[in-house]
Amino acid sequence: MNVKKKAIKNGGKSMLMTNRDLINTLDFSIEEQESILSIAQKIILRPVDFANSLNGKIMGSLFFEPSTRTRLSFEAAMHRLGGAVIGFSEQNASSVSKGESLRDTIQTVAQYSDVIVMRHPKEGAPVFASKYSEVPIINAGDGGREHPTQTLTDILTIRSKMGKLNNLTIGLCGDLKFGRTVHSLVKNISRYPNINFIFVSPKELEIPDYIKNYLNENQIEYKEMENLEEAIQHMDVLYMTRVQKERFFNEEDYIRLKDSYILDTLKMKLAKKNMIILHPLPRVNEISYDVDSDPRAMYFKQTKYGMVVRMALLYKILHQESFKQL
Ligand code: CP
Repeated sequence: MNVKKKAIKNGGKSMLMTNRDLINTLDFSIEEQESILSIAQKIILRPVDFANSLNGKIMGSLFFEPSTRTRLSFEAAMHRLGGAVIGFSEQNASSVSKGESLRDTIQTVAQYSDVIVMRHPKEGAPVFASKYSEVPIINAGDGGREHPTQTLTDILTIRSKMGKLNNLTIGLCGDLKFGRTVHSLVKNISRYPNINFIFVSPKELEIPDYIKNYLNENQIEYKEMENLEEAIQHMDVLYMTRVQKERFFNEEDYIRLKDSYILDTLKMKLAKKNMIILHPLPRVNEISYDVDSDPRAMYFKQTKYGMVVRMALLYKILHQESFKQL
């Protein structure tokens, strides 16, 4: 019996972070999340200290949906920690194309690897996979629902660039209905003190009711606006998102809504001097290329933090000594 199965037998959750799943953005407590962010800061300062920490470990990388940043940053993270990677980047390259079930695919890859990172178009696929996996499952995005490791990336970027994770007005703009990175970030970062939100979207792409209910229940303030020029002046962080073409049932609706918001240098003149711009990427047309040279544009730095925080996460989940002080 491996450690994950023992943890399940002992009541479903290990008290340590080794061998834990990360399916939902709230799976780790604030204290546990802080310990990941703290390891990430140590990796930024002295990556050499971690270079061989996952020697002999193997990560299964199962991407049933396209990805550039999440897949490659997880793979780079594992290599930088001395581990190895197996997997596929599209389901047609696996026996899923012959009709193999997700359950059988997961049970098989769990025999070969120490952790499985998976992205899947179906909401809830990672929680289903976790029931059949003997090794930890990390959700790398499930449909329009959650993307918890993007949230760790976003939070590390905000902390590094703003110097704090409290007393912030965070604006989120674009497709707030289908944008899974938005759903995970709002739920997670609202746990820090005095965070409030401005949601900027067309009516048809507004933030789902279940997120609003969550904020109401936790007495977190938010406003919904449609005009980015008005809203941007009040923000400390602006989180831009693309309209998620792949989640629309009707192409006409996508074409009508896709350019609802384009952040350009004129709009940036209205923003605070120390506001930062984040974007989970990929960008389609919602941030003009001219904005890239603005010192407030952090979205490419954010991609680097994505690799670093995934190194910290893999280290915490797979390194048996991870609770020892470095
Ligand atoms: N941010 C993000 O999830 O990007 P990819 O789809 O390229 O992984």
